[in-house]
Amino acid sequence: MTKKLKILVVAGDGIGPEVTGEAVRVLQSVAEEGGHEFTFREEPIGGVAIQGQGSPLPKVTLEAALASDAVLLGAVGGNEFNALPPSERPEAGLLQLRNALGGFANLRPSFAWPGLSANSPLRPEVVEGADILFVRELLGGLYFGEPRQWDRAKGAAWNTMRYTRDEVVRVAKVAFELASKRGKKLTSVDKANVLEVSQLWRAAVTEVAKDYPDVAVEHQYVDAMAMHLMNRPRDFDVVLTENLFGDILSDEAAVITGSLGMLPSATIGGKVNLYEPVHGSAPDIAGKGIANPLGAILTAAMVLRYSAGLEDEAQAIEAAVKQVLAQGARTADLARGDKSVKVLSTPEVGAKVLEALGSRTGAAAR
Ligand code: IPM
Ligand code: MN
Repeated sequence: MTKKLKILVVAGDGIGPEVTGEAVRVLQSVAEEGGHEFTFREEPIGGVAIQGQGSPLPKVTLEAALASDAVLLGAVGGNEFNALPPSERPEAGLLQLRNALGGFANLRPSFAWPGLSANSPLRPEVVEGADILFVRELLGGLYFGEPRQWDRAKGAAWNTMRYTRDEVVRVAKVAFELASKRGKKLTSVDKANVLEVSQLWRAAVTEVAKDYPDVAVEHQYVDAMAMHLMNRPRDFDVVLTENLFGDILSDEAAVITGSLGMLPSATIGGKVNLYEPVHGSAPDIAGKGIANPLGAILTAAMVLRYSAGLEDEAQAIEAAVKQVLAQGARTADLARGDKSVKVLSTPEVGAKVLEALGSRTGAAAR
């Protein structure tokens, strides 16, 4: 069946445009091959929008996002904005966009891709087979809690980690649903030995757990979890976290894969789903054509899975990525510790994925 999808592309800063370009090419090829109608519109966000339009989230971008079926983001941020207060930085544009789109469940799969274990500083026998899905709450906690302020006169600053029971319940339900379709195990992360907000979190998760008797639940303190993730990543299936804990642990989980450049994400549950690779704008390598596009390409697969209902096509992309990795053709971030790797540029890796995808589906490669 023909699928129609209006995709807003907000490539943003740094390596954002480079990696997003490859993701868009993959989506275009899937559309062409399957006779789907995907349209792409581009608008600025983040630092480029501050420089061009005077705001990290211009009104046209926000309106285009709300009028789309899916938003594909590259990255935001840059060193030239480091002196600005949080509310004026490129990151504020992304946070405003997340809030406006309303998606509260940020899915961040972290997968030990076959053949990449040499790239991880962890021993192969520790990482091989790891397959974790982080469900990070995205609209609450310290990121959005009030009050927040840096009172310079007082020499004090504060942020607020705030959750309501309902905010925890709705994201917990998403996590339990996913767990019941995967490994039937859910680890909820909190700091309930210190924080009231974590005690509420744990109580709400325990409440939701009653409706999912087939899912085994455990609660871990975030400090211990940071260690378990490195010691025994294969023991985890779905990991449910509040906003900041999930931000931190999902970067840590990149160690399992061997590069932050491999991790995709999808944010669901709101008006419009938002798709973004986990990595940042990486100003140090921006414009050099060496960034890893696979996180963005795997994010494109999530667009197909969660916004287009094209599960087979999503899996075809993931299989194509697997195939390209097996060929030993990779960007520089994936070459560590492996002399047999042929280091390729961003567009070269993108082209390899298209080629692998074409040979799987019969489409002519670019
Ligand atoms: C992420 C990023 C963002 C976050 C920043 C850019 C606002 O680190 O998506 O993980 O902290 O959520
Ligand atoms: Mn982050």
